[in-house]
Amino acid sequence: MFKLDRKLITIGMTLAMSSTFALAAASAQCIPGVYESKPGAIDGGVTYPRKNGIYTAYRYNTQSTKGVWFGRAATANEIKAWDVDALPDGTGLPEGEGSVELGDELYEAQCAVCHGEFGGGGKGYPQLAGGNQDKDENGIVKTLKNQRQYGNTDAPKRTVGTYWPVATTLFTYIRDAMPYAHPKSLTNDEVYAITAYILAQNELEIDGEELDDEYVLNAEKLAKVVLPNRDGFYPNIDGPKAQENIRAFFADRAKNIGMGTRCMKDCKDPGGQDGKTEATVVKIKYEMKDVVPPYAYAKDLPPETEGGSVSKAEKMYDASCKLCHATDTMGAPAVGDTNTWESVMKKGMDTVLVNAIKGTGGMPPKGGNMDLSDADIKEIVEFMINSSKKH
Ligand code: HEC
Ligand code: HEC
Repeated sequence: MFKLDRKLITIGMTLAMSSTFALAAASAQCIPGVYESKPGAIDGGVTYPRKNGIYTAYRYNTQSTKGVWFGRAATANEIKAWDVDALPDGTGLPEGEGSVELGDELYEAQCAVCHGEFGGGGKGYPQLAGGNQDKDENGIVKTLKNQRQYGNTDAPKRTVGTYWPVATTLFTYIRDAMPYAHPKSLTNDEVYAITAYILAQNELEIDGEELDDEYVLNAEKLAKVVLPNRDGFYPNIDGPKAQENIRAFFADRAKNIGMGTRCMKDCKDPGGQDGKTEATVVKIKYEMKDVVPPYAYAKDLPPETEGGSVSKAEKMYDASCKLCHATDTMGAPAVGDTNTWESVMKKGMDTVLVNAIKGTGGMPPKGGNMDLSDADIKEIVEFMINSSKKH
């Protein structure tokens, strides 16, 4: 089972959003007459006058010490860099195209280590295809919405084919977030190719056409994909009835959000208080004090490298391993955690090195970065061990 905490993901999203707002706030702050555009300004943006005819890209406030006076207006290109979404109808998708066949090659080389052959999962990371894609007697693909009713023993799995509502998201998600260790390293054409391959593995059709090896996907065709679970979300926030659906959802707060009217008098016994009846409200099972091993409140930072300069090993670690090894949320031994590394090293350095090179469990071969040589991996692992020693 995949281990990332949903809460962490939400925090990440909130952070990303708040920085978008910070940019917006910065642009709202420009005051007419104080700045002007000058050649040589960052990204064609505005510059601010300082003393003696000098201009800088940053607002330098000599008059006021009150209020927040920092930053500069976001430039058009900076805003463009943040404006990366694509709508379900394809608006916002870039030019480009790629075939299922090319996608197959790229997927094998860059994605299969984590997402499994043909997107089938089994490597501890999300499964991208398969799940339960049986069709019922009417030829309708069973999705998460309805497959339980069919009484299948195969548990519902969230894959692109069984769960995702919109296919354009697949393009933007891969382009912006994958491969996990080197996001944004693929060209738009390559992303179209991989997207086509994943759609093909999910046995989807576009305009009644199957996606065979020669099939070439582009923005226009991607916008036509209708995913089987599109209407399985509640409330349905797409289409002309969106507003109505959302209002109805929030109108029934007690049912949909679990916020009923509070009972203040003659309330039904919630049970459980006499030790005999069963509690209707299930208590939070693990309180902080019951967690084994107990939560740590202090965290040891990895030791400083000599002279304060960053070693080559540490740079490689930062670029390819830190993502998973900085904490234990992904199930990886966290660098700096002495006990965990001591128990890892009981296997002996040779085995641990082979595991780092060939992969083991949730650890992809070379952390997913095949550009690293075996010697690089050895150097990094030594760095990880040294940074995790008692000191
Ligand atoms: C080193 C491991 C790794 C590699 C390599 C990798 N991924 Fe991922 N992928 C992940 C992880 C971890 C997540 C979950 C991220 C999250 O939920 O925040 C993920 C999520 C995804 C998802 C979303 C799945 C879902 O249903 O939520 C897609 C699609 C995806 N990856 C595609 C790709 C593609 C395409 C490639 C190759 C270009 C790739 N990944 C390479 C680890 C990897
Ligand atoms: C996508 C997440 C991910 C990345 C990136 C990653 N690791 Fe790991 N690593 C893991 C997980 C998960 C484990 C625990 C595997 C297990 O025991 O099942 C692990 C375990 C290890 C171990 C212990 C192996 C053992 O025998 O117990 C070493 C050493 C290691 N990683 C080195 C590295 C190095 C070096 C890099 C960078 C080049 C790296 N890892 C990048 C997830 C990752």
